[in-house]
Amino acid sequence: MLFALNVGMIMEHKYLTVSNDGPLTYYHIRHSNFEAKISKFGGQLLSFKASNQKDWLWLSNSAVKDGSKAIRGGVPICWPWFGPSSEPDLSQHGYARLAQWEITEFDATEDLVTLRLEPTFSEALNKKLRYSLHQTITLSDRLEIALTTTNISDEEASFTQAIHSYFSIQDIFETEVMGLSGCELYDQLSKQTHIVDGAIKVLNHTDAIVRTNDRTPIVISENDRIEIGGNGFDSIVIWNPWQALATEMSDFDDNGYRNMLCVEMANTQPVRLAPGKSHTLTQSICR
Ligand code: BG6
Repeated sequence: MLFALNVGMIMEHKYLTVSNDGPLTYYHIRHSNFEAKISKFGGQLLSFKASNQKDWLWLSNSAVKDGSKAIRGGVPICWPWFGPSSEPDLSQHGYARLAQWEITEFDATEDLVTLRLEPTFSEALNKKLRYSLHQTITLSDRLEIALTTTNISDEEASFTQAIHSYFSIQDIFETEVMGLSGCELYDQLSKQTHIVDGAIKVLNHTDAIVRTNDRTPIVISENDRIEIGGNGFDSIVIWNPWQALATEMSDFDDNGYRNMLCVEMANTQPVRLAPGKSHTLTQSICR
């Protein structure tokens, strides 16, 4: 079965309903092989479960869901900048995770569901933005998120971005990130750079940018294995706030740091796009 829908339509389909969790409206995809929830606010995948498995994604119990700030967990989209803004008064990680998104295409087969989502920005922001953005999420026995940015201006434009996935893990003390040995790691906390030697263990507040455009991580956590792939990235960000910072953050469960790890496909250095050109950043996940 294959069909396409228009922006703004309220949809009901064998596999898709629109539901509410308090003030939050989300798309609920219930397929025989998997289940997913995607918030319209932020266009943010909040939950993904493949046949009888536990959730692949971590979502804070104290996440704010009323649209006043980005939702803490799932897969926020950082765009068109990653990290703090260079302009004062603009929030960290850009506009996309604070925008309303709509499904503009929905394709379903017996094995997979593909959704295309587009954000809506204010008129003032639309006048200023030099790019358009859409996200394609493919759900099956694996998960793929692709972010496509197109330069719609008549000048070269640049941006940074991240697919900021919060993975659910059993125990951070028993978790390691493999596959990145030999890559350069920039520690955003100490401002030091070193070469990764073997597995990365996360045993305190970690905010690391691993510079690579072809190596991909595997997160090993007790009996769990999360294989992360991707395309179009220049780095992989690894983040865990650890206990003290988690306690300070009102939307982060105090002990949540034990059961989550962010591993983000990112472009932390500007991607330069000529007019009319597009760039796609992809993160794929297998468990
Ligand atoms: C990570 C950044 O990607 O996101 C960290 O590297 C940041 O520096 C973290 O603290 C969470 O950001 P936020 O804005 O969602 O609290």
